[in-house]
Amino acid sequence: MNAAVTARAHTNIALVKYWGKANTDLIIPQTSSLSLTLDQFYTETTVAFDEGLTSDHVSVNHQVLTAQQASKVHNFLNLVRQQSSRTSFARVTSVNHVPTAAGLASSASAFAALAGAASRAAGLSLDRTALSRLARRGSGSATRSIFGGFVEWHAGHDDLSSYAVPLIEKVDWPIAVVALILDPHHKKVSSRQGMQNSVNTSPYYPAWKQIVADDLAAIKPAILAQDFTTVGETLESNAMRMHALTLSAWPPYSYFNGDTLTAMQTVKSLRHEGIECYYTLDAGPNLKIFCEATNVATIRTRLAQQFGADNVIVAQPGPGIQFLD
Ligand code: ADP
Ligand code: DP6
Ligand code: CO
Repeated sequence: MNAAVTARAHTNIALVKYWGKANTDLIIPQTSSLSLTLDQFYTETTVAFDEGLTSDHVSVNHQVLTAQQASKVHNFLNLVRQQSSRTSFARVTSVNHVPTAAGLASSASAFAALAGAASRAAGLSLDRTALSRLARRGSGSATRSIFGGFVEWHAGHDDLSSYAVPLIEKVDWPIAVVALILDPHHKKVSSRQGMQNSVNTSPYYPAWKQIVADDLAAIKPAILAQDFTTVGETLESNAMRMHALTLSAWPPYSYFNGDTLTAMQTVKSLRHEGIECYYTLDAGPNLKIFCEATNVATIRTRLAQQFGADNVIVAQPGPGIQFLD
């Protein structure tokens, strides 16, 4: 057996969302996107190629996956085998420190960690741009999780030109993201199905592409200037306009549940009381609330009273991919 390699990658929350592919095979997105990597949520994955195996062996959260469940990981390992001299199957052991498939970006941390661990275990030594491109082939949002802090994924137009670049890796801005877990269970509509349904059936999709271009142009200088209000207003409107693509698809669907709407009202009430904060949410019912560090205690207390202290997790900007000995 070849040496095992372990990598850790953190999830990210999109402030300007990726929602739709131009090329579903290569995972080239319709638009660029921008995210913040989070310190509290991550995946650790160990990979070892082993000549003794007769198929890839994958376990996630201590459960062995069936061949069908492991198909995304298997296809991803095939890419790594193509790029390297390895031909043998691999043993993959992965643990999510984030709810799986609940709209908290487990696919981002999972495929970023897998890209790092599998490429190194196969004897490749990829720089972070190449790792970002490789992670992209597993899940689009994973493209950005190679890097820490604020990260932009440049859509590009082919495999070589579509990768993420850090905007600010070491964030020197006292901000936080309060995650509110309203339902940790698996979603019914995966991000993959949901976004392609929006591309194919929402009449608002052309408008979305323009919205993303405008929001990226607004949010990047605002992040660099630490203009909290512009960043907050941009991320909240971008999230709602993304979710409008699900409501306007056919058949229509939504990632919101009743508590999502209640929590949105709580954020608005906090703002009326002078606690400036803004919400976003990915493909799931759980809110992420962007705030300044000075307001974390008040926001945490309010959400804990309403939704239970165990469902409130305070995150800060997190680091890029790490290799563990
Ligand atoms: P999420 O909001 O959690 O990113 P997605 O629908 O985008 O949800 O992706 C969930 C899928 O990501 C899972 O069904 C599984 O295929 C994959 N995934 C999640 N965690 C892991 C992991 N640790 N290793 C391999 N694949 C994973
Ligand atoms: C709403 O990256 O999970 O979180 O590329 O099909 O694996 P696939 O989808 P995924 O989609 C993420 C969608 C989002 C927005 C974002 O992260 O930018
Ligand atoms: Co995902």
